[in-house]
Amino acid sequence: MRNLKQKINQTIAVLDQAVLDFSPVTFANSLGAEDMVLTDLIAKNQPNIDMFSLDTGRLPQETYDLMQQVRNKYNVPLLVYYPDAKDLELYVAQYGVNGFYNSVENRKACCQVRKVEPLRRALKGTKAWITGLRREQAVTRASLEISAFDADNGLQKFNPLLEWTNAEVWEYIKANDVPYNALHDQFYPSIGCAPCTRAITPGEDIRAGRWWWEDPQNKECGLHVGKTLPLKKILVPSI
Ligand code: ADX
Ligand code: SF4
Repeated sequence: MRNLKQKINQTIAVLDQAVLDFSPVTFANSLGAEDMVLTDLIAKNQPNIDMFSLDTGRLPQETYDLMQQVRNKYNVPLLVYYPDAKDLELYVAQYGVNGFYNSVENRKACCQVRKVEPLRRALKGTKAWITGLRREQAVTRASLEISAFDADNGLQKFNPLLEWTNAEVWEYIKANDVPYNALHDQFYPSIGCAPCTRAITPGEDIRAGRWWWEDPQNKECGLHVGKTLPLKKILVPSI
């Protein structure tokens, strides 16, 4: 518990520093367990930080239920961003509505339209963004820093929960009566879009249920990796 108290204080200090040095600051809220910890900490300690979610249009019902709960419980408004309708129509015309199962490239193109392009809009005009990334979540996240310049988006990026363990996230949620996604109680430790997330079995990695048909080194959607594919190029249908 003492360790958790220290981490909470450090996290609040990071949030304060972000506001002091980089306002306006916005928090990318996926409504996953980590992000519910941040929602609670921000609402109680640093409400100058804005909050947004990317609604891909393919989220599980349980995530929408939680989105509504957050709106009802917390005083900080949660802005919701949607994919560009025209780009989405082009994507579906080219790849099919479930085309993401066919190849990593097709899947990344879907994430590009439904997540990455809306993220760019959500970050416009801000000087820093905050995420709930943790180091131990994935091999792709092992070398992250708590604060670093995000060259892709041209602003500072803060990962205040970087050193938190999964157990600490849940200790905070339970101790503070923080609402969380009902799917977490059904063996879904990590939740994204419904068609790309499954429950895990005992002993599996916590992200094993995300894009479970792909290799671990591919399991990023483009929100957090350098390489994002240029949208126009992807969407030109091959003749
Ligand atoms: S993902 O890249 O595999 O989808 P993950 O679900 O682990 O990411 O979430 C990591 C962080 O990315 C979250 O803590 C949050 O800051 C951001 N994020 C992911 N999905 C969304 C979303 N739909 N809306 C807002 N932020 C998101
Ligand atoms: Fe599309 Fe799946 Fe990516 Fe969601 S996670 S944007 S459905 S490929």
